[in-house]
Amino acid sequence: MPDQKLKGKVVLMGGGAKNLGGLTSRQFAELGANVAVHYNSAGTKQAADETVAAIKQIGTDAFAIQADLTKVSEVTRTFDETIKRFGGIDIAVNTTGMVIKKPIINCTEDDYDKIFAVNSKAAFFFVQEAGKKLNDRGKIISLVSSLLAAYTDSYAIYPGSKAPIEHFTRAASKEFGARGISVNALGPGPMETPFFYGQESAASADYNQNAAALSKFTRTGLTDIADIAPVITFLATDGWWITGQTIFANGGYTTR
Ligand SMILES: NC(=O)c1ccc[n+]([C@@H]2O[C@H](COP(=O)([O-])OP(=O)(O)OC[C@H]3O[C@@H](n4cnc5c(N)ncnc54)[C@H](OP(=O)(O)O)[C@@H]3O)[C@@H](O)[C@H]2O)c1
Repeated sequence: MPDQKLKGKVVLMGGGAKNLGGLTSRQFAELGANVAVHYNSAGTKQAADETVAAIKQIGTDAFAIQADLTKVSEVTRTFDETIKRFGGIDIAVNTTGMVIKKPIINCTEDDYDKIFAVNSKAAFFFVQEAGKKLNDRGKIISLVSSLLAAYTDSYAIYPGSKAPIEHFTRAASKEFGARGISVNALGPGPMETPFFYGQESAASADYNQNAAALSKFTRTGLTDIADIAPVITFLATDGWWITGQTIFANGGYTTR
């Protein structure tokens, strides 16, 4: 197996400041990588700065970069600034996402445009830019959702807008494979972050806390970000032979 060690490698973490992205940024640093910590909202700047400080404390280099990735020029700038700072990029992870839980008949044009901009458009151009700019033998990982395999009400527009990533991933893995680049999508189950709780009632949260085959063996019954970050670092290292796939890591929440 070719050497897949992370020491001295460069990771661009889209949405790398907090929650799943924040933990994954730190785990990449613990494995020896330098990390560009992307964030979007002004309210996330502090988390981004804290993540950068934590990475420097671990002993690798990091910097924070703000960008609205629904604008293609901002995707380009994020990659270019990372290359300028670190000399290249080996791994690009896109954790950006937006969730709306509503019955189809209540979804507005504005809901549709906003969620498809974050979940589909930003994801597509992130993959495209990575395909143009990653070093040979690079890795691209995009976050989707285990709801891609759910049979449930009110989750049409969220997994619907994540679904295109599955095919972007398949096509990109074929196109970029000639340069040794692995491309995958990863779909966690409902994770214990504000992203999840913001959409759920007490009753639906309770349902989800008991819905996975392995729910009883986690702290909250939901997917723990601590069980997802290592899957991302694995796909970026010894899991390099996995490419073109959408992988669910969800304790047995949905399957197909
Ligand atoms: N939590 C769950 O239940 C769950 C389950 C399965 C999959 N996922 C997926 O896992 C990923 C991480 O979710 P999380 O729970 O860790 O929540 P999160 O921290 O809120 O992640 C969402 C990220 O998307 C970024 N973002 C939103 N709009 C953006 C834009 N226009 N440009 C650039 N970035 C933008 C946010 O940045 P700012 O906050 O700075 O705007 C944030 O970093 C998401 O893709 C989500 O769809 C979540």
